Amino acid sequence: MSHIVHRSLRSDPPIAVRGSGIFLYDAAGREIIDGSGGAAVACLGHGHPKVTAAMKAQIDKICYAHTSLFSCESAEQLADMMVGHAPGGLTHAYFCSSGSEGNEAALKMARQYFLEIGQPERTKFIARRQSYHGNTLGALAAGGNAMRRAPYQPILSDAFSHVSPCYAYRDRRDDESDDQYVARLAAELEAEFQRLGPNRVIAFIAETVVGATLGCVTALPGYFKAMRAVCDRHGALLILDEVMSGVGRCGTLHAWEQEGVTPDIQVIAKGLGGGYQPIGGILVSRRVIEGLSSGSGAFMHGHTYQAHPVACAAAVAVQQVIKEENLLENVRSMGKLLEERLVERFGNHRNIGDIRGRGLFWAVEFVRDRATKDVFDPALKLNERVKMEAFDRGLACYPMGGTIDGKRGDHAILAPPYIVNSAQIDTIVSRFGDAVDAALASVDG
Ligand SMILES: Cc1ncc(COP(=O)(O)O)c(C=O)c1O
Repeated sequence: MSHIVHRSLRSDPPIAVRGSGIFLYDAAGREIIDGSGGAAVACLGHGHPKVTAAMKAQIDKICYAHTSLFSCESAEQLADMMVGHAPGGLTHAYFCSSGSEGNEAALKMARQYFLEIGQPERTKFIARRQSYHGNTLGALAAGGNAMRRAPYQPILSDAFSHVSPCYAYRDRRDDESDDQYVARLAAELEAEFQRLGPNRVIAFIAETVVGATLGCVTALPGYFKAMRAVCDRHGALLILDEVMSGVGRCGTLHAWEQEGVTPDIQVIAKGLGGGYQPIGGILVSRRVIEGLSSGSGAFMHGHTYQAHPVACAAAVAVQQVIKEENLLENVRSMGKLLEERLVERFGNHRNIGDIRGRGLFWAVEFVRDRATKDVFDPALKLNERVKMEAFDRGLACYPMGGTIDGKRGDHAILAPPYIVNSAQIDTIVSRFGDAVDAALASVDG
């Protein structure tokens, strides 16, 4: 028995010993297609020689120098790459070691901004139900993932309240147009601002495309513009969490590019370093940075491993490869193919209620009945069965339960590396389709 606190304490997972391209190999010699890049992380696949070479070169130069005294070349280079051209007015970057740390930094910087500009009465955040911003206590309090919050509810900050996500498949009423549904959601956000009172809200925080919790749910056209307008009316910031959906996953470097809005603070992580090193970060607008620089002159926050030289060197190489190999174009074209193949395989499937996503970030939502959208009994753990059936067929995918409210509903995510080719997309969907049918047969019979 392993001495690691694994995700399950009842069984030990297989040991991954090697990775190459989109393939993972375990100690038993099995070859597994990494069909979701873990949790939408491994954007370049495994063992990319340019990234491992860049890491080795950095290790030979310097592994660590504390940021209270030094910066390092790789962190400077990474910041220049990400915000040197001020995308959407984002001019500064802060690098940390995970998506959760990124969200903590975003929340704290937003709060400090209002302190610095003389609005200390702003102490509240509005987030969305069925969202995920991380597992540290601040990020968990921000998130609306009912399942992950439940055990810790009594120790979560009450600075956060939650409004509805934009989840058209289940929440748009039959008698409502898309525009009317968006207007209803904007009115709900406005009402929450009103309830909390004038100048009380620091920021509205949302995932640009909802990741693991709802399963690749994109917002309706105009949704983020409407939310931004509410924030602007109340002088609050917009924080977009692109930990999962950003850095190319949706076919553009930033997912917000497809929404017609820019955030004041953006959180990034998974696709930044592609899993080669633990790295996350925030990209911050000039307005917010100026608030701090013309006030106290320092961000009252920090971590021992922030802007780590090796992590930043890995991320620089990952971003260079994405550019040099024109991978955003591949994300868009292979994403289109993935959508087509999923629709061919599941478009008429009686237990698939919705197929949704963007770029190389797709999910299917399982239903017992397509007409009523009724779900499977959570005790059947359909999502877990899909995961195991897929693994048995040589495919790693990313299923999750509690889609609707943290308890009911199942979905599964496919998010292959950006380097995937069309033959591999066919294999992924074929194995996934067989796994889904086998899992469904096991709950039906
Ligand atoms: C949207 C989003 N935010 C934050 C996080 C937390 O990131 P990490 O697990 O790196 O702390 C995740 C992780 O899945 C995520 O998907």
